[in-house]
Parts: sequence; C-alpha cells; structure tokens
Amino acid sequence: MVDSQEKPHAIFIPYPLQGHVIPSVHLAIKLASRGFTITFINTHSVHHKTSKAQHGGDTDIFSTVRRQSGLDIRYTTVSDGLPVEFDRSLNHDQFMAALLHIFSAHVEEVVAEIVKKGPPVSFLIADTFFVWPSKVAKKFGLKYVSFWTEPALVFTLYYHMDLLRKNGHFGCLDAREDPIDYIPGVRSIDPKDMTSYLQESDTSTVCHQINFNAFNDVRGADFVLCNTVQEHEPDTISALQSKMPFYAIGPIFPTGFTKSIVATSLWSESDCTQWLNTKPPGSVLYVSFGSYAHVAKNDLHEIAHGLLLSKVSFIWVLRPDIVSSDDTDPLPVGFKEDIGDRAMIIPWCCQIQALAHPSIGGFLTHNGWNSTLESIWCQVPLLCCPLYTDQFTNRKLVVDDLKVGINLCDKRPITRMEVSEKINRLMSGKSKDTLKKAIKDVKKTFENALTKGGSSETNFDRFIKDLKASIE
Ligand code: UDX
Repeated sequence: MVDSQEKPHAIFIPYPLQGHVIPSVHLAIKLASRGFTITFINTHSVHHKTSKAQHGGDTDIFSTVRRQSGLDIRYTTVSDGLPVEFDRSLNHDQFMAALLHIFSAHVEEVVAEIVKKGPPVSFLIADTFFVWPSKVAKKFGLKYVSFWTEPALVFTLYYHMDLLRKNGHFGCLDAREDPIDYIPGVRSIDPKDMTSYLQESDTSTVCHQINFNAFNDVRGADFVLCNTVQEHEPDTISALQSKMPFYAIGPIFPTGFTKSIVATSLWSESDCTQWLNTKPPGSVLYVSFGSYAHVAKNDLHEIAHGLLLSKVSFIWVLRPDIVSSDDTDPLPVGFKEDIGDRAMIIPWCCQIQALAHPSIGGFLTHNGWNSTLESIWCQVPLLCCPLYTDQFTNRKLVVDDLKVGINLCDKRPITRMEVSEKINRLMSGKSKDTLKKAIKDVKKTFENALTKGGSSETNFDRFIKDLKASIE
C-alpha cells in the first residue's frame, strides 16, 4: 500500500441534500479506491440526520468501508450556518439563503484546518451548485474539481443562461412555445423542458441567485465531472468539452444492488423486501417523489385515488414532509383502509434494493436524476411526473430521447383517471413490452460504459491522469 504521504489528497464537499450526498459518497469511494486520500465533509445537519437514521449517536458514515477495505477516507463536519434542529424542509428559502451567504465562511475555516493539519491537500472537489468553490480553491492553492450530479443537458442550459436571456427564453413560463435551437450541442429543446428555475422569471429568488452565482463560479473550475453516460448525450458533452475539461463518468452508484455499506439515508429505511417476496414478478409499482420536492395536497389525493383505481399493487414512499405544510397525514381519509394488503406505505427505504427486486415492474417517479439512473440500471420502466428543478429536463431525456418511460402529468392538473390509465399502460400489455425492450438496451450501454475500456471508465482514467498531471 502506498504511504499516505504520497497519495494525492482531495477535500470533498457534497451539497447538503440527499440526492447530492449519495452520488458524492460513491464518487469519493471510487477515488479512494484509485489511491486518493479523501477528506469528506458533511454538514452538521446531514451528519445528524444520517446518524439518527442509523439509530447511532455520532456515526462516521465511512467507518465500515474503511474497516472492510482499508480505503483512506477521512470524515469531518461543518456548520451550514443554521442550528442543527432548524427545519430545512419547511423553511427551504432560509436554508438556501444560508448556503448562499453564510456557508462559505464556515467551509473556509474547516478547509484551513485540514490544510494546516495535512497530509498536504491538492484538490477541492465540490458540488457545482455551490457558489464559492473556485474562490476557496484559489485561496488555498488547490485545483477545483466541480461535481455535477445531473445530466449534461441540464448543465449546459444553466451554463448558457445568458443566451436564453438574450433570446427571450429565460423565464418564459407559458409565454413561449417555440423550441430553443441555439444552445451549442443541443439540437432543440422545448421551453417547458428546461429546469423549473430557468422557466421562472423572478430572478430575485434565492434559488435563482444560487444558480446564477454557481454557474459563474464553475467557469473557474479546473475539471468538471458529470454523472451521465457519454453515449446518451454525445453532442452536448462534445460542445461542453470545447469550453472546459468535462468528463462523463456515470452512472455513479453501487452497481451491485445490495445495500450500500455507507449509510447515506437521511431517514430510517423500512424493509420492503419481505413484503415484495410475496408478490408475483413485475407486478408491483414503486412510487416515490425523491428527497426534496413537495407535492400539492390535491395532486397527492388524485395520485392516491388513481393508485386505488389501477388495481395494481404498490409501494409508496411517502416522506414525512411530502406536502409542504405541517400536515401529518396528507392522504385521503380512509385510503389506508381501502388499500389493505395491496400496498405498503413507508417513509423511506433503500431504493436501489427495492427497485432491483424482481416483483417491481414500474416506477412512478418525480424524475430525480439519481432515481432515473437507478431505475434504468434495474430495468424498471418509468412513469414520469416531474415536479421541480431539473426533473422536467430529465423527463425529456427519459421519454423523448431514451424512450424508457411514459409521461404522467404533461397536462396539469393531475387526474385520478389519467393516473390509473397510465399505471396500467406502464405495467401491462404491448406498451410494457416495448418499454422493457428499450430499457434493456439502455441498461446495456450503462454496463458497457462501466466496464474496462467503456466510455465512463475510460473518461475516469483520463480524468485521474489529467488531475495528477495538473499538480506535477
Ligand atoms: C434532486 C434532483 O431532482 C436530482 O435530479 C438531483 O440529482 C438531486 O436533487 P432528489 O429529490 O433527491 O433530487 O431525487 P433523486 O436524484 O432521485 O435522489 C434521491 C436519492 O434518494 C436516490 O439515490 C434514491 O435511491 C434515494 N432514495 C429515495 C432512497 O434511498 N430511498 C427512498 O425511499 C427514496
């Protein structure tokens, strides 16, 4: 084993949201297994939640992986500027404002300590959505690796915000339908398929400020890593590569279907395997809207009634904060009694393990990018109900480009009849067979990308070589 002094040392700071922490943890492991020393920094809040979800007092999420494989991953925490007990989901704007205005000062303190203590640090790996990494990296003489957890198409839309503005497509929600055909590497995209932030016109919101500043900051990145597969976005990736060192290295997750040895969940996981074992192959619909988005109560009721009408068995992951108010039981009255043994309603589970179960035949999803990649990996066709941020663009990739899913709510409001009819289209008949065939082919490209000589592995090797060369 190489002496720790000789290993390249990177500080890794994930965005403090579930869908960003998960791929960051797996990228950190991948880098450590290539001989890097990684110091991984979670916020106090994320650390508190993952520890609580594990029923542990103060869990170092990498302790098992360190013990089992000897990887050099160190772990520490930092304040995001808010008290640990502050409800970041209910007070989302205040949380985002802290990340925008306060977080970087805390990060600088922690980075300074790590740099002082050693081993010598060469790199800062941080989520593209942060507004400060290139400045912090420069201050400490580090190379900045920006980690983009979403598709290249979403990256390039944000990156070309100025072009959208110049052409009048920025903030054109419901006002423009003509396709956007001037973004380099993007043949054409409808305004409704842009991320929700680019469709909204209010530039004073904290989320807009974050996006605007983050995409200014990323221009100072030395490398950009993207959780996508080159074969599925070749033109977009080539166009970006003409501007910056951009590497498609996805999909990034534990590909072995088993529970991850790193406890990344912010909520306790319920077991659904035993219940799934009692169901016929391909018969159960998995329903989840991810870790972040809220669903309007009326839409939630229509989805619930649609699930009942469909007669299909289902697992529904209903996070405690699924509706944005303090509503402890957002489901229609009597719903739980009506479903009986046909369904399981749980607050959270190990999703990749659930999706990999042979009884799962479809996924009613919000199209978060991790969920999308995991569903394709498990060959589970998607019923797409995007709610927020990049999910509208991800839907386009899934339904229009890869053809591994169908639209649920392309027209609002959501109705129970549509929900029921689309679930049956997803889970049975000719449409199911067509989707299954398409998803098998896409999964194959994922597998090929991840094998030696495949695109993602080759890009990752090239990234490591370029990264090491940058400090020689
Ligand atoms: C948001 C964005 O929409 C997404 O595109 C971006 O990449 C991250 O932030 P989020 O709502 O967190 O996403 O969804 P998603 O990207 O799908 O990530 C959710 C993660 O939580 C997935 O890795 C999924 O496996 C995991 N999960 C979800 C569980 O482990 N258990 C559950 O019960 C539900």
